[in-house]
Amino acid sequence: MQETKINFLQAVHTANTVVALLHLLLLLVPSKTKATESSTMSRPGCPDNCGGIPIPYPFGFYDRPNCYLSDAFKISCNATTYSGKSTFTPYWLGRQVLDISLSLGEARLSTPISSQCYNTTTKINDYSRWKWNLTSLPYRFNHEKNKIVVIGCSTLAYVQYSINQNTYWGACGSWCYRSETLTNGSCSGIGCSQTVIPKGTNYILFSFEEKYNNSRIYNFSQCGYAMVMEADTFTFKSDYITTDDALERENLPIVIDWFIDNTTCNNAWANESSYACKSKNSECVDSISGLGYFCNCSRGYQGNPYLEGAGGCQVNNHAPTPGNVTIPKEDIAALVLLAGNKKRRIHANSTWQ
Ligand SMILES: *[C@@H]1O[C@H](CO)[C@@H](O)[C@H](O)[C@H]1NC(C)=O
Ligand SMILES: *[C@@H]1O[C@H](CO)[C@@H](O)[C@H](O)[C@H]1NC(C)=O
Ligand SMILES: *[C@@H]1O[C@H](CO)[C@@H](O)[C@H](O)[C@H]1NC(C)=O
Ligand SMILES: *[C@@H]1O[C@H](CO)[C@@H](O)[C@H](O)[C@H]1NC(C)=O
Ligand SMILES: *[C@@H]1O[C@H](CO)[C@@H](O)[C@H](O)[C@H]1NC(C)=O
Ligand SMILES: *[C@@H]1O[C@H](CO)[C@@H](O)[C@H](O)[C@H]1NC(C)=O
Ligand SMILES: *[C@@H]1O[C@H](CO)[C@@H](O)[C@H](O)[C@H]1NC(C)=O
Ligand SMILES: *[C@@H]1O[C@H](CO)[C@@H](O)[C@H](O)[C@H]1NC(C)=O
Ligand SMILES: *[C@@H]1O[C@H](CO)[C@@H](O)[C@H](O)[C@H]1NC(C)=O
Ligand SMILES: *[C@@H]1O[C@H](CO)[C@@H](O)[C@H](O)[C@H]1NC(C)=O
Ligand SMILES: *[C@@H]1O[C@H](CO)[C@@H](O)[C@H](O)[C@H]1NC(C)=O
Repeated sequence: MQETKINFLQAVHTANTVVALLHLLLLLVPSKTKATESSTMSRPGCPDNCGGIPIPYPFGFYDRPNCYLSDAFKISCNATTYSGKSTFTPYWLGRQVLDISLSLGEARLSTPISSQCYNTTTKINDYSRWKWNLTSLPYRFNHEKNKIVVIGCSTLAYVQYSINQNTYWGACGSWCYRSETLTNGSCSGIGCSQTVIPKGTNYILFSFEEKYNNSRIYNFSQCGYAMVMEADTFTFKSDYITTDDALERENLPIVIDWFIDNTTCNNAWANESSYACKSKNSECVDSISGLGYFCNCSRGYQGNPYLEGAGGCQVNNHAPTPGNVTIPKEDIAALVLLAGNKKRRIHANSTWQ
């Protein structure tokens, strides 16, 4: 890595650097760039949320055919009435929707949980095994944010995956002998262990090794569990093992990568009528998890890249635009710019004109 001290204004004169600087500026103001995607992200005349969860186009309510892009993006907004008051909850793929991100092409759903539980009445283990087949749909399990997580004190889960119709097997197990050895916190091996899911996975089936069951430990742990979930936000609690439905009561998230079509941006461009990035200030993004594309607003814009006109990507007033931007001195000292292939550290004064 080569480091050169250069004059700040001199650096700004390089077009490349300006772009790089804007990028860094965005990184420097995390509170503002955590895109508060505006609430009017649906098609005109379409409901824009379900129970307060924003439903941005290409997603839309399943009973409003003009409101979603294709069947893959149908959301059902179900009402639950409790003592005369209705609350609404969005469902997609039969699971509760926690949030949808257009800029990342992701959605968080409440993850299904596979379990083996010792039944004290029948004295056998009951199994509930989860299977999710997304192979004919434009969705995949995000392999960077999700992990396979197994929770239990005598639990070995087998996982069958498919990637492009090819099948793979994996396993993940968790053991412990007494509830006293459990600690709250990270999923670190005692009572909880985790493993990666491969890139491109669009089918998952769990099963349990019956030799490792809860028959001998049911006095302190009646169940073992296996699931796919967003790992970073997960905190293990000893209650998940010692209390019957503690885990099931949590709405633990799984991250689904969705895309518009199983083609590359290069090919998608070619057909104007089917190309989904309709906003003038939008761009196409190739999915990180495999073949497929989705749309994003160009840098400096925010809105809905799938909508034309006013609902589409508009200038982001919160984003710094070339003009007078004040950067605190300390931050400038920390800026590392990528200009061409050279990394340069900038030391300069705080006003950029
Ligand atoms: C939500 O409503 C739809 C349509 O009525 C129904 O098919 C679906 O099963 C419901 N989902 C849940 C989780 O209640
Ligand atoms: C145990 O099995 C019985 C009989 O199948 C069933 O009725 C009961 O709900 C089961 N108990 C639990 C906790 O699942
Ligand atoms: C998943 O579903 C597709 C069709 O929807 C089917 O062809 C495929 O065999 C299924 N995969 C598995 C592993 O069951
Ligand atoms: C973990 O936290 C729960 C409360 O969330 C508490 O009931 C439990 O005793 C704690 N377990 C340990 C081992 O500290
Ligand atoms: C449960 O596990 C024990 C060994 O720990 C085994 O002897 C028993 O057969 C298993 N029960 C079932 C139903 O598989
Ligand atoms: C579970 O607890 C009961 C009552 O405390 C006891 O009789 C039984 O032997 C225990 N079972 C096991 C497998 O430890
Ligand atoms: C894209 O998906 C369609 C149906 O969903 C399928 O027929 C086609 O083979 C897929 N193309 C590729 C390149 O995977
Ligand atoms: C372009 O997309 C439209 C709509 O999906 C389709 O009917 C048409 O056949 C496509 N044209 C080409 C050249 O692929
Ligand atoms: C979409 O654009 C936003 C803002 O320009 C950016 O933060 C985000 O990383 C982009 N998403 C992808 C997948 O490139
Ligand atoms: C930038 O700053 C200069 C001098 O401080 C001032 O004259 C000018 O009006 C400012 N420009 C903008 C766009 O704020
Ligand atoms: C910063 O500004 C001060 C006074 O305005 C000047 O003396 C100093 O040389 C400047 N430093 C750089 C790196 O431009």
